[in-house]
Amino acid sequence: MPCTVIVCGFFGDTGKGKIVSYLSLRDKIAVAARAGVGPNAGHTVVHKGKEYKMRMLPSGFVYDKCRLLVGAGVLINPEILLEEIRLTESQGRVGVDRQCAIIEPKHIESDKKGHLAQKIKTTGSGTGPCNAERALRAVKLAREVPELEKLLTDVPYEVNTAIAEGKNVLIEGTQGTYLSLYHGTYPYCTSKDVTASAACSDIGVGPTKVDEVILVLKAYTTRVGAGPLPNELSWEEAEKKGWAEVATVTGRRRHSAPFNYDLAKRAVMLNSSTQAALTKVDVLFPECKGVTSYEELSREAKALIKNIEEEIQVPVTLIGTGPGALEIVDRWKGLTN
Ligand code: IMP
Ligand code: MG
Repeated sequence: MPCTVIVCGFFGDTGKGKIVSYLSLRDKIAVAARAGVGPNAGHTVVHKGKEYKMRMLPSGFVYDKCRLLVGAGVLINPEILLEEIRLTESQGRVGVDRQCAIIEPKHIESDKKGHLAQKIKTTGSGTGPCNAERALRAVKLAREVPELEKLLTDVPYEVNTAIAEGKNVLIEGTQGTYLSLYHGTYPYCTSKDVTASAACSDIGVGPTKVDEVILVLKAYTTRVGAGPLPNELSWEEAEKKGWAEVATVTGRRRHSAPFNYDLAKRAVMLNSSTQAALTKVDVLFPECKGVTSYEELSREAKALIKNIEEEIQVPVTLIGTGPGALEIVDRWKGLTN
């Protein structure tokens, strides 16, 4: 079962980075391919005691033999990409599709004012204006940028070849289902579709090549920026519960609410998920911190997992019990060659 897609079932920030980093180590992933919008995403990966905030490179970088690719659908900020390659010491194993579009200072400037900044409250990273220019067929592509020349590759060819050879491939979606331009809370959403099908299209892999779609859900719900969040708590209530989070990219406060079964169920449908990962269970149930076997989880945590499985009708196979890549309960024995 070599090809797995990972997407978020809520509004982003559910801990995809952590799940991807765990799987890339467990399954010795040959290729991790980053899909999604661009550097508006922030994935926190904790590995060997060090915290990384990834915005461009796949979170699979933690497995040091993994090839790291960025698909054509993704918008690149060259400065951020090159800095991440340096920080993660991943020179020599990164490839960028020739047709990735490039974020320029003018895109960032227009993302930081007017409708986008004031009404939508975007991350200000330039992704919306860049995608708009791309739709007009006027955007600059990676193949035109000399600093990226050494990184350029044919991502669809590399990924499809790896799949054909039976190697393990992870496609990393970003943002979250309800930030999708098509299926999310329009106009409070990002600048393109971000469901599993879109992630595949970003990379250049068709639906018949995908074996598993893992939907990442957090034990409570958060969103950042403008837009509705049902049953939202006040910041004070969130602080009491330990749900008061601050955004990775923008440093803004995240709005929070209890786990939303309706959204989770619909996200399973929109992404054709085959399984789910439930993260931050230790935030809801501190007694579960660092636990790595299902039996050790508390009765309350097990009851929540059972409820979720009954509602969403796919198994919860991975359960996050802390920020470290290995703080996880693994009930899925998929992949692994
Ligand atoms: P944009 O994607 O920067 O245009 O922002 C549009 C909306 O999506 C804003 O509400 C952002 O806060 C949100 N958003 C975009 N990317 C992410 C992400 O990776 N995590 C969480 N929220 C995001
Ligand atoms: Mg994030």
